[in-house]
Amino acid sequence: MTEQSPSRLPEPRIAPSVAPSTNSHLQIADVTKNFASQAVLKGVNLSVAKGGTTAIVGPSGSGKTTLLRLIAGFEHPATGSISLNGTKVAGDGVWLPAHRRQVGYVAQDGALFPHLTVGQNIAFGLDTAKLAGGRRGAAGRISELLEMVSLDAAMAKRRPHQLSGGQQQRVALARALAREPELMLLDEPFSALDAGLRVATRRAVAKVLNKAGVTTILVTHDQAEALSFADQVAVMRGGKLAQIGNPFVVYTRPPTAPPRNSWATPSSWTPGWKAHWPRAHWAEFPCAARLPRAGSS
Ligand SMILES: Nc1ncnc2c1ncn2[C@@H]1O[C@H](COP(=O)(O)OP(=O)(O)OP(=O)(O)O)[C@@H](O)[C@H]1O
Ligand SMILES: [Mg+2]
Repeated sequence: MTEQSPSRLPEPRIAPSVAPSTNSHLQIADVTKNFASQAVLKGVNLSVAKGGTTAIVGPSGSGKTTLLRLIAGFEHPATGSISLNGTKVAGDGVWLPAHRRQVGYVAQDGALFPHLTVGQNIAFGLDTAKLAGGRRGAAGRISELLEMVSLDAAMAKRRPHQLSGGQQQRVALARALAREPELMLLDEPFSALDAGLRVATRRAVAKVLNKAGVTTILVTHDQAEALSFADQVAVMRGGKLAQIGNPFVVYTRPPTAPPRNSWATPSSWTPGWKAHWPRAHWAEFPCAARLPRAGSS
């Protein structure tokens, strides 16, 4: 990869307005959300292209999960609107319920049905009418999905409480993949996995989603994950998206010093980070994003 001086990179977009785009899958315009007297989202704007992959990073409590729940249709925005494929699904008096949005959601805690086995949890997401062999074909598809998330097919008979936290997370991923959604929302789906399994599972999931052209939003605290997974990174701070752009630009050109407890390691923000980061960090893992040309973002 040719090294490009960070000083020649374009300025990141800060809290951009949402420009209408024909290629846009998801459009969030000026969305706010309150819980009692607490303003949790304070005017969020975001556009995600069809088939695009966006990582949302930010400190704990900044509103990342709340934003995903609004997109999925589990919460109503107080003001503003959300559109999918150019059609408004929430806001301005419009409301499309979650089950009609073609959105897959892997919750931060997995949220498996405790009374169902692993197989039944995954089958819940399957459209058996679409499967070759109907209900009989479901068993094969469940095994395939379990393999995709590195779980043994024999696990299908267990119940969630008989699994570790990381195994439950992977079943939740398999269940969401089974639905073959157009838009996938992943809320820290790999957080309970150890480093090796995390990379392997992330690669397997990214491959499946890319192949199917699924638009994806991933919430993560892991810088390497954001860089290897996403073609756009959005930084959430205090209920607002403070910065949105190409991952390389976002990570090398923060608008201000990062907040405490942020997703970035302190060493990458010290005065020397601009000079060292591309060599020391960028080259360490394969990156989904490509360097933008000067003048673009
Ligand atoms: N249903 C709810 N009722 C009241 N307050 C809520 C509710 N859901 C979230 N909150 C509050 O909204 C704020 C944002 O929560 P959210 O879960 O979106 O943060 P987050 O960025 O996902 O954090 P984390 O990285 O820890 O998962 C927090 O202060 C939280 O306590
Ligand atoms: Mg969260």
